[in-house]
Amino acid sequence: MVLFAGAGTGVAYMVRRIAILGSTGSIGTNALRVIEALGSGYSVFALSAHSSVELLAEQARRFKPKYVAITDADNQKRLAELLADLDVEILAGPESLVAIGELAEVDIVLTAVVGAAGLPAVLAAARRGKRLAIANKEPLVMAGELLVKEARASGGEILPVDSEHSAIFQAMQAGRPKEVAKIILTASGGPFREVAIDDIRNVTLAQALAHPVWDMGPKITVDSATMMNKAFEIIEARWLFDVPVEKIEVLIHPESIIHSLVEFVDASLIAQLGRPDMCLPIQYALTYPDRVAGIARAPRLEEIGKLTFKRPNPEVFRALPLAYEVARVGGAAAVVFNAANEAAVEEFLAGKIKFVNILELVEHCLNKHDVKTGVSLEELLEADAWARREVTSVACSA
Ligand SMILES: NC(=O)c1ccc[n+]([C@@H]2O[C@H](COP(=O)([O-])OP(=O)(O)OC[C@H]3O[C@@H](n4cnc5c(N)ncnc54)[C@H](OP(=O)(O)O)[C@@H]3O)[C@@H](O)[C@H]2O)c1
Repeated sequence: MVLFAGAGTGVAYMVRRIAILGSTGSIGTNALRVIEALGSGYSVFALSAHSSVELLAEQARRFKPKYVAITDADNQKRLAELLADLDVEILAGPESLVAIGELAEVDIVLTAVVGAAGLPAVLAAARRGKRLAIANKEPLVMAGELLVKEARASGGEILPVDSEHSAIFQAMQAGRPKEVAKIILTASGGPFREVAIDDIRNVTLAQALAHPVWDMGPKITVDSATMMNKAFEIIEARWLFDVPVEKIEVLIHPESIIHSLVEFVDASLIAQLGRPDMCLPIQYALTYPDRVAGIARAPRLEEIGKLTFKRPNPEVFRALPLAYEVARVGGAAAVVFNAANEAAVEEFLAGKIKFVNILELVEHCLNKHDVKTGVSLEELLEADAWARREVTSVACSA
């Protein structure tokens, strides 16, 4: 954090310097809108993209970061041409994310890349004692225990950006950790919340990408349709809030106004409500412990009228019971769960497999892998690579 004196006032202000990993995605672009609206107390120090070189260059021109990183190194030359007249350092390749996560000048690392690619950078930032504003849930699913341990040891913080976990984080402030009886994660239920088990076999890519509430990147949109996203959130909540999975429940809440709840031992349910808009949880992870006026608008309850809830069908949404099993088994199970899903979603997005095959492939990998407990980071990464190879080979031979 840097201090500067307000012009002629003699008052010192603090500026929080932010690095956004994945600034060109859905969360990344919303984060830039939030930071712009927050004004002079926040500055953009570093940005990263994978291949959206034109958008990254546009963002660099507007926000004037000191560093930009392009993880697909083939785009480095084009980025350098586009930014030739700017005083900005360009980094390239997957390792550039780690370099950004470790920058000494950065106070907050907002991780908004998609999938497992964010893990090394998230770990690096946690080891450097940064505030991690974490949207990229996959690293927490894969290596939550290690990540939390590293952040604690370095004096860093992990603040959730996922709307559900931000809601839980806010609700938790109403009591003490030992007073928590249950966490209730709400879910929109995605496009197939009313679909019967037989009909799920015939859903198309276009139907899976048509989320009824949230406008997100394609991978997380498919994860919402399978409810794998919610399955990951169960594991994410387990590590973020140090709560056993048996105390975490999922409820479908199609209106997506209550973002999650905490039930305390005295039977009080504390909820956080907001419009389905990621700007509010992004902002809170940046400004915490302060609440400041920003671009989010409060929901009008009289316009919404009623809020409804129902339990998800575990036969339709197989990802949910699997998440509890994976969390109980421990070891490399969550890594296999995540990597198999990521690879299967890629195959589905490429039109190579059917929607139902995603969960079939994930279950196949979980059954086949010899999951051990107490595994090292190297073993976790090996399990990750194995699951991806296995999905590709089964999908190709089908
Ligand atoms: N979107 C939401 O509302 C939401 C809500 C809660 C949590 N999340 C989580 O937040 C994360 C980002 O989601 P999103 O919807 O913003 O995704 P997205 O729109 O697909 O954006 C992903 C970002 O990551 C970059 N990227 C892609 N592949 C990469 C790689 N291999 N290495 C490094 N960077 C890579 C992309 O760069 P290019 O543009 O160059 O491809 C882009 O900047 C996910 O983990 C998701 O689960 C999202």
